[in-house]
Amino acid sequence: MKRLRCDQTPVWASLKTCFETGGKSLDLRAAFVADAKRFEHFSQQAPHVFADLSKNLIDAATQALLLDLARQCGVEQHRDAVFAGALINSTENRAVMHFLLRKPATAQVAPAQAAIKNVADEWPEVEETRQAMLAYAEQVRAQRHITDVINIGIGGSDLGPQMAVLALAEFATSGQRIHFVSNVDGQELAGVLAHCRPESTLFLIASKTFTTTETMTNAHSAKAWFEAQGGHDIGQHFAALTTNVAAANAFGIQTTFGFWDWVGGRYSLWSAIGLPLAIAIGSTGFRELLAGAHAMDEHFRTAPLAQNLPVRLGLLDVWYRNFHGFDSRSIAPYSSPLRRLPAYLQQLEMESNGKRVDAEGNTLPFDTAPVLWGEPGTNGQHAYFQMLHQGTSVVPVEFIAVKKAANSLPGHHTKLLANALAQAQALMNGKDDRGGHRHFPGNRPSTFLLLEELTPASLGALIALQEHRVFVSGSLWGINSFDQWGVELGKVLAKDLEARLATGDVTGLDGSSAGLLQKIYKK
Ligand code: F6P
Repeated sequence: MKRLRCDQTPVWASLKTCFETGGKSLDLRAAFVADAKRFEHFSQQAPHVFADLSKNLIDAATQALLLDLARQCGVEQHRDAVFAGALINSTENRAVMHFLLRKPATAQVAPAQAAIKNVADEWPEVEETRQAMLAYAEQVRAQRHITDVINIGIGGSDLGPQMAVLALAEFATSGQRIHFVSNVDGQELAGVLAHCRPESTLFLIASKTFTTTETMTNAHSAKAWFEAQGGHDIGQHFAALTTNVAAANAFGIQTTFGFWDWVGGRYSLWSAIGLPLAIAIGSTGFRELLAGAHAMDEHFRTAPLAQNLPVRLGLLDVWYRNFHGFDSRSIAPYSSPLRRLPAYLQQLEMESNGKRVDAEGNTLPFDTAPVLWGEPGTNGQHAYFQMLHQGTSVVPVEFIAVKKAANSLPGHHTKLLANALAQAQALMNGKDDRGGHRHFPGNRPSTFLLLEELTPASLGALIALQEHRVFVSGSLWGINSFDQWGVELGKVLAKDLEARLATGDVTGLDGSSAGLLQKIYKK
């Protein structure tokens, strides 16, 4: 389908005027005075997630123009094409159907979708694989002699399950320790193996392609360790989660759970890549995660644009990046279990939308993905919030808080929530001290996402919300959010340099690389 890039729409010029004539000087404090119902106007409930957008630098007129932008860019048609299984990932000629992994077993493929070959064709296999994977998870949970599960994977084959296992630790009922090894730095694998025994360890080799250097290096070392320690029956102690079942078999692994090329690595938590989580929280919990994400899919698919939370967030992202020029967004989960969420969202946003050309390969005349970064609150307050309050750059902050505590320690949760509210309040209201060291300029924007409780379902919805918002901004920017060519060059160069490190050969290298290589080679 022909898409219109944001800067090619008629409303783009109106947005520019809107920004110049008031948008850039919008004062949040004045906006709340002018509109007593601003909180109601700029907040909404989506499945499992309440969102307060009222502390963002937008007003009704800007929002209306941004919604026009979504319409003129054809975001709805683009979204519908995704759900219809079209080959959205044009540079790899692939569909983008991770949403299919979240459909509950009882839900039929919607008639409009069933008409599309890809979606209808894949559904039976999706459900079959999911059942096999969850049955295996239950089997592992019942094996009391398995005390340690080591997931070996990187990027999307690590960040999602790791983030989710930590987030849902309260729901972990298997009692098995789940470890994540991603770095090719042997320290990581060696550190984990030092506490494991082959007879009580299950290795999950998680790799979409089953070719990623870091993962394959760690997998080979794990296998060598297993055998050297007297381990036998690889079939019982190794399983592979991959689209490349043949390569897993060639590696010597017979227990495999597949997925499909239409599941991007950073969108693969919902597939067999979620197995460590399913082992931790069980098949019922895993299905709840999927159901929460599915509820958000349905919201995104059906809610009118003005009440469509992923759309509103994606539009805001474009407003901030392309008009205000904000080049980063800070993620502040006021929830210790969500401590790996910033890292997870970094891959989601920056690998998806960190592109400098549009889907047709034309160089973009505007900026795309912001830098995402963050730490859980309140820790971040004692590190970099100084800069957020009084630094020279404005960084929109995304607070994520959970209403109900998962622990019963008195006072802690109230303090945690009070701090989240206080920071958002301080960023917006500031404090007048006539420009001195104690002066807080305020008017610094933030979004506040609130979950009733951190459960598998609410986590699923929160993640699906973030996926769809990244899709929306990518769609407006006219880019392909589903490829990642930018990671390839480094992989090729590393192979070359690895060989040179064995010989010291610096022929043809730039001066700096040659100098460093010689320094390392000579020891
Ligand atoms: O190098 C980037 C990347 O391809 C990510 O997109 C992916 O999540 C990660 O590597 C791991 O890839 P794989 O699951 O194929 O090992």
